[in-house]
Formats: sequence, structure tokens, C-alpha cells
Amino acid sequence: MSIRRATHEDVRSLFEIDRSVIPNHNRLECIESSISNRNCLLAKLGNIPAGFAIYDQGSFFGQTFIWLRVTSPQFRRQGVESSLILRIAHLCKTKKLFTSTNQSNKAMQGVTKKLRFKRCGRLSGIDPGDPEIFT
Ligand SMILES: CC(C)(COP(=O)(O)OP(=O)(O)OC[C@H]1O[C@@H](n2cnc3c(N)ncnc32)[C@H](O)[C@@H]1OP(=O)(O)O)[C@@H](O)C(=O)NCCC(=O)NCCS
Repeated sequence: MSIRRATHEDVRSLFEIDRSVIPNHNRLECIESSISNRNCLLAKLGNIPAGFAIYDQGSFFGQTFIWLRVTSPQFRRQGVESSLILRIAHLCKTKKLFTSTNQSNKAMQGVTKKLRFKRCGRLSGIDPGDPEIFT
């Protein structure tokens, strides 16, 4: 597996990976601006884009926050997302690194549990009936 910062040449691949999760959700603008801000990491298996993660350093109470993580369905459970998160932890210049996911998202909670993130909060009111769990 190789991990590097995504470039604008990767936008189409990232968009396709993202669309595999929520087909009707257009996060193209978000992906493009994270690339411009050098806040998007891409993981490749061989030469194939396998997953990505978008983060930033500072907008979440001055700390680093991972906003979006997606692994292409055919590459799941191969350590793609945990490797991306570990790379972000390595690049992180702030004291703390946070992320969050819906309570219903057991896969993402499995990733943070495996990486020993500590649960630190729960926020209701974003997705009805499915609180956001912060770690
Ligand atoms: C959540 C997601 C990013 C995980 O990506 P991944 O590359 O498959 O994760 P990893 O292979 O690094 O998984 C690491 C560990 O997390 C846990 N895990 C991952 N997927 C899991 C699942 N479906 N169920 C239970 N535990 C899971 C396991 O402990 C796994 O280790 P193991 O395979 O050795 O048992 C991926 O499932 C995905 O893209 N989901 C859709 C998008 C999404 O929900 N993103 C997060 C919210 S924005």
C-alpha cells in the first residue's frame, strides 16, 4: 500500500470511491477544496486508488479532526483506513486528533476502537435518531 497527498489529478477517482457509499451525495467541492488545502490523503493498493481521508488541523477547537474517510468496497478490511489514520496521526502537528461517526456506523467505530481512540462525546441533532459519536 502507498499513501500520499491527493492531487487534482486524483479528483475523479476519489469522487468515484465516495459515490460508492452515498450515490446521490455530491461531495466533489469538498474533495476539491481539501486537495487544494493539502488536507486529503489517498491510499493506493498497487496502482489502484483504494481509499482516502480528509482532515484539517485547527478548525476543531484548535485540534486536528478527520472529517471524511472512505474505502472502496472491494478493498475494505485490508487496513486501508487504519493506515490512512495512522499517517494523519504522524503528520498531525496538534496535541490531539479527533474524529466522529454515526452511532450506527459499526465499521468506523471498529476502526477507531482498533486504533485505541478514546470515546469522548456524543452529539444528538445532526442525523435524526442516529447521534454522532466523537473519539
Ligand atoms: C469505515 C471504513 C472507512 C473502514 O475502512 P477499511 O479500510 O475497511 O478499514 P480497515 O481495514 O482499516 O479496518 C480496521 C479495523 O476496523 C474494524 N472494522 C472495519 N470494518 C469493520 C466492519 N465492517 N465491522 C466491524 N469492524 C470493522 C476491524 O477491527 C478492522 O480490523 P480487522 O479487519 O483486522 O478486523 C469503510 O468501511 C467505509 O468506507 N465505509 C463507508 C464510509 C464510512 O462509513 N466512512 C466513515 C464515516 S465518514
